[in-house]
Amino acid sequence: MKKPIAIASDHAALKLKKELMKHFDEVGVEYIDYGTYDEKSCHYPEYAKKLCDAINEGKNDLGILVCGTGIGMSMAANKCKGIRAAVCSDTFSARFTRLHNDANVLCMGERTIGPGLACDIADIFLATEFEGGRHKTRVDMFMAFENE
Ligand code: RB5
Repeated sequence: MKKPIAIASDHAALKLKKELMKHFDEVGVEYIDYGTYDEKSCHYPEYAKKLCDAINEGKNDLGILVCGTGIGMSMAANKCKGIRAAVCSDTFSARFTRLHNDANVLCMGERTIGPGLACDIADIFLATEFEGGRHKTRVDMFMAFENE
């Protein structure tokens, strides 16, 4: 059975996270919300870490992190072992970061894209499987950097 997806935001993207969760409710995608839960100013690395820990504990396979730009979240997430986070502002990148990079965390920015596009990007990211093959060789190569 498919695991629920993980989702988290900071205060700057709380509105976008709510739009995404409303969309997931409508299309029947299950999710776990790891915060933040209110508009109080907070630190995005804390929420990136919560979500990445949940993935590494096996609670979720895929996650979505949103902040003002998606960039801070992606930088924080990519410091966590086992995480391959990609900032996407277009659907082509969302498809190919799953197909070729086996990205397990999608990052987006509330201040850079609208909610309609963000939902489309999320749908494509969640629906696309990793191609494996030569792309696995390359992913394995950069994941090995974690052990250096
Ligand atoms: C918060 O103001 C903002 O810095 C944060 O949401 C994010 O965009 C960082 O990359």
